[in-house]
Amino acid sequence: MGHDMRMKLSRILPLLLMLPRLAMAWASAGHQVIAAEAYRQLSPQFKAQAIKVLKAHPDYAKWQSAYHTNASFDVYAYIFMRSSTWPDEIRRRGNKYDHPNWHFIDYPLRPPGFALEPGPKPGDDVLYGVARCEAVLSDTQADPELRAASLSFLIHLAGDMHQPPCVAVSLRKATYTHGNILARKAFTISIPSEGQVQEADYFGLVSGRSGDKFAATKLTPVRSELVDAPYVKEFSLIVECRLAHVIELGLHTQFVGEVMDVKAEDSVMAKGGLLEITKVKPLVFAPDTQAYYGIGNFVGHAFSVGRAFE
Ligand SMILES: Cc1cc2nc3c(=O)[nH]c(=O)nc-3n(C[C@H](O)[C@H](O)[C@H](O)COP(=O)(O)O)c2cc1C
Repeated sequence: MGHDMRMKLSRILPLLLMLPRLAMAWASAGHQVIAAEAYRQLSPQFKAQAIKVLKAHPDYAKWQSAYHTNASFDVYAYIFMRSSTWPDEIRRRGNKYDHPNWHFIDYPLRPPGFALEPGPKPGDDVLYGVARCEAVLSDTQADPELRAASLSFLIHLAGDMHQPPCVAVSLRKATYTHGNILARKAFTISIPSEGQVQEADYFGLVSGRSGDKFAATKLTPVRSELVDAPYVKEFSLIVECRLAHVIELGLHTQFVGEVMDVKAEDSVMAKGGLLEITKVKPLVFAPDTQAYYGIGNFVGHAFSVGRAFE
């Protein structure tokens, strides 16, 4: 079984349900904070130019009407901030301005040098997207709506590039893993499937200090080539992280890892290179009843069903 399929990191969020605590980057709040800071640093002249361009945006009127007059910033700052999240809102929704691959670049890192090679899609990645947006914005004769969409994308992509994908896990100091993460400055997350619930539970019952959990469960440790930590060969989804932050929460320590790679077996991928959660079959842990469940049924499209209240 190969773990060679790379994918967009933000898709792993729903799969990490075994973890006690979790946080991912690329949230709309993060984009808006970055946009707010960028807007604050613009000169009055550039602020006026940016808003003039954004006035031709298909969602301009919607943003304007959503502004609360008691906000601590003016309506134009708000519109600039809202424009930063629009490329995510239209992503894979059939919008003519959508560019789902512009949000990232997937460098194929290879040991031992980890040279940054050109990405596999040089005509369809974040660097290309930024260049295209800049070209359209420089062309004052270009279609005003396209220029507005390009500015929205440019603000968004700046946010994407400044928010490395991260994931957080929390552990008590008493665990063996706690010390290992601090010593190695790295960790991996291996996602078990429903059929591997016994193995997963055993890993949570026994400490690595008192026995070889891999040998007992007949699972195979694989040394990550990217970070100094092992992952479980037989689990279909792997996240490899460099330790970025350590936050003391009290009983638990939260380890924030910058995601260096996500590896998924071919068997859990759907057509088009997307992860298929119904094939991964991750476990859901309900702490109160100390029970494991599967993921259940599809219930709605994210960033979409909630629009019923708009
Ligand atoms: C379902 C489940 C959830 C757990 N959640 C946590 C947790 O949130 N924090 C923690 O420190 N330990 C948690 N544990 C316990 C650790 O996994 C356990 O102490 C384990 O033996 C630690 O292994 P280690 O010493 O090899 O790191 C959990 C265990 C199970 C089975």
